[in-house]
Amino acid sequence: MEALALRRGEETATVIEKPRPEPGQGEAVVRTLRVGIDGTDHEILAGEHGGFPEGDDHLVIGHEAVGVVEDANGTAFSAGDVVVPTVRRPPNGTNEYFERGEPDVAPPGAYHERGIEGAHGYAAEYFTSPEQFLVEIPAGLAPLGFLVEPISISEKALELAHSSRSTFDWQPESVLVLGNGSLGLQTLAMLADSVDRLYCLGRRDRPDPTLDIVDEIGATYVDSRETPVPEIPERYEPMDLVFEATGYARHGIESAHALAHNGVAALLGVPRSATFEVDGGEFHERMVLGNRALVGSVNSNRRHFQRAVDSLSSLPAWFTESLVTGVYDLGEFERAFDDDDSTIKTALELSRR
Ligand code: NAP
Ligand code: BGC
Ligand code: ZN
Repeated sequence: MEALALRRGEETATVIEKPRPEPGQGEAVVRTLRVGIDGTDHEILAGEHGGFPEGDDHLVIGHEAVGVVEDANGTAFSAGDVVVPTVRRPPNGTNEYFERGEPDVAPPGAYHERGIEGAHGYAAEYFTSPEQFLVEIPAGLAPLGFLVEPISISEKALELAHSSRSTFDWQPESVLVLGNGSLGLQTLAMLADSVDRLYCLGRRDRPDPTLDIVDEIGATYVDSRETPVPEIPERYEPMDLVFEATGYARHGIESAHALAHNGVAALLGVPRSATFEVDGGEFHERMVLGNRALVGSVNSNRRHFQRAVDSLSSLPAWFTESLVTGVYDLGEFERAFDDDDSTIKTALELSRR
């Protein structure tokens, strides 16, 4: 079968031939339909994130997948079911995090991430997976099923942010999303119905397709070149919730300066190393005297995937149609990695239903 892989020493992906995987006991064989591409995939190709499976000279990429069960192989699935795989796997057998159904909080060494770190991903014609790592989705959602994993990432971060404020009465009325990439835009869309005042930070000039989406959602665009994050409270308003999805290192600290009293910032970006000066005293005092919180969030578990299926079903068609700017066959995979301003979210199509 064909697969899209990064080979050691290279910075672009290549289509390779691999044997079709044989299922172990308790594993289903899935025919891959589509695989989404995100900022993490770009970081993997650039050598900034992730790692090869031990002893292999390549990593099959792709961690946002949707497929159709080809061979249920004695699992609870039936051939034809549409499924989305989760990302993390235990490196050796199992461990306490996986047994509790909380692989997303496992420390390094206690997990591999398929398509990212230590285990092959889903950009292949077929993959196998233990049934507990497959989430069934309605067949009608199959074309957009590759959005379930990234939406589950936002679900988890929002859950962590809310739970950090759960000891008092807190309902975010002002929310700032940092970043107009796919993660930022999908989160804006997820919040559109429940939040009064939404803002989105970017660094683009109009006209721009991502800013058209920001407008259509009804959010206010904040240009970071004119208004750096710490100046946002004065220029706009202090934010109850900040959702960082830029991967720009300063934003990790600066998010605290955009927060209202009792506000929380969820940090999701995976930045490169960066050194800059910070007034640590001011930062520390702001956090304490304002009851503010910063919470980092990575990955997601089955509960977040299930919630993501509901969220995906509720997103308006205009939004997903504008977000997904291209779906490409393996033969034209380079286009899925285009990084120009007209590309927002792309996917590879490995097979059709
Ligand atoms: P992306 O497509 O690269 O989006 C990042 C966006 O942030 C881009 O639109 C970029 O603008 C904007 N940006 C960067 N620096 C900025 C600045 N200084 N001011 C204003 N805007 C700025 O990536 P993504 O797929 O949406 O993911 C976002 C981040 O989350 C990445 O770092 C990714 O690794 C991380 N991530 C984390 C998790 C997790 O589990 N924690 C999951 C998925 C992704 P331009 O396009 O104009 O440059
Ligand atoms: C993936 C997560 C993963 C994270 C860190 C993200 O792009 O969606 O599942 O945990 O990268 O590798
Ligand atoms: Zn991802």
